[in-house]
Amino acid sequence: MACNRSWHIFSLFLLLISHVHGLTSYDPESLDELIHQYAMKAQAKKRTGTSLKVSLPANFSGMEVSVVRLRSGRLWERGANFSSFYIPPRVIPFPFVKRLSIVYQNLGNWSTRYYRVPGYSLVAPVVGLMAYDASNLSASGNEALKFSVLGDPILINFPNLMTKGNLETLKCVKLGPDGLVHFRNLTKENTCITQGDGHFSVAVQNPEVAKNNRVWIWWVVGFAAGLFAVVLLGVIGYTTFKLVRSKRFREMEAESESGVVLDTTSIGRSKMPSAPMVRTQPTLEQDYVP
Ligand SMILES: *[C@@H]1O[C@H](CO)[C@@H](O)[C@H](O)[C@H]1NC(C)=O
Ligand SMILES: *[C@@H]1O[C@H](CO)[C@@H](O)[C@H](O)[C@H]1NC(C)=O
Ligand SMILES: *[C@@H]1O[C@H](CO)[C@@H](O)[C@H](O)[C@H]1NC(C)=O
Ligand SMILES: *[C@@H]1O[C@H](CO)[C@@H](O)[C@H](O)[C@H]1NC(C)=O
Ligand SMILES: *[C@@H]1O[C@H](CO)[C@@H](O)[C@H](O)[C@H]1NC(C)=O
Repeated sequence: MACNRSWHIFSLFLLLISHVHGLTSYDPESLDELIHQYAMKAQAKKRTGTSLKVSLPANFSGMEVSVVRLRSGRLWERGANFSSFYIPPRVIPFPFVKRLSIVYQNLGNWSTRYYRVPGYSLVAPVVGLMAYDASNLSASGNEALKFSVLGDPILINFPNLMTKGNLETLKCVKLGPDGLVHFRNLTKENTCITQGDGHFSVAVQNPEVAKNNRVWIWWVVGFAAGLFAVVLLGVIGYTTFKLVRSKRFREMEAESESGVVLDTTSIGRSKMPSAPMVRTQPTLEQDYVP
């Protein structure tokens, strides 16, 4: 019963922790949802084929969002050019719709709140490219769309990368909402490519992590060496013990064996001489008898 109650308290505690965590964590998916809502609102006021800036609530200042509403035919023919994204011609929305809204996000100084790559540091802001069905602006929950890239890939440009020079260490990252990360090399300076929508940035591996890894490896090596030494000492000790014991045992055995051997030999010896006597005795007896 007491165990049951403490378990209940423990699960309540866990629930509380997860709740607090939910309140303070920055969920990329709900952010996308919110940005989408504001983008649709911004579009409802104005209908243009050019990109328009979306104003977010004041507590999101530092993020940059824009939206453009296009006919799919126009996207296919001419492509589109945003701040960081260049969508070449021969890209269509999937599933196909007549009109679509393309939402561009630049999370700016909020990037690392919403997205993390374990062991890496983001050296560029996270930028997002999303597409939604815009055939009917009065419909509330417009469907999110994918892109079908039938020609060249979509280009993402990251100007002013913080660590210029050692480009080999830089990696393009595609950031999934559930922490899933896809790495890719930069194609040319400051440019990443993608075959679809999503969130992107540039990351560089943390040297501290590599150092920590090294420290960790040394800990493991040290532990293994210690364990080996202990095992070796144990083996040596055991072997010595066994050797000493077996020596003593052999001595004891030798003593007892020699006793036995002496006995048997003595018996043998006593037998050996007795045998011819036994054999010869009858002859002697035979010699005597007649
Ligand atoms: C900003 O305020 C809205 C409510 O007005 C809230 O839903 C949202 O979580 C806030 N965002 C941040 C990043 O604090
Ligand atoms: C980002 O910068 C803006 C000002 O440019 C600031 O108001 C906001 O609090 C900053 N956000 C974060 C997460 O640091
Ligand atoms: C996209 O537009 C920018 C200027 O806004 C320009 O510098 C860039 O060359 C354009 N990209 C392509 C592929 O047309
Ligand atoms: C657009 O959506 C509204 C609300 O969901 C609906 O009443 C209307 O019939 C839709 N129009 C078209 C052309 O689908
Ligand atoms: C990425 O770049 C690194 C270093 O420049 C190279 O060793 C590696 O083969 C490249 N990977 C791919 C998939 O091109």
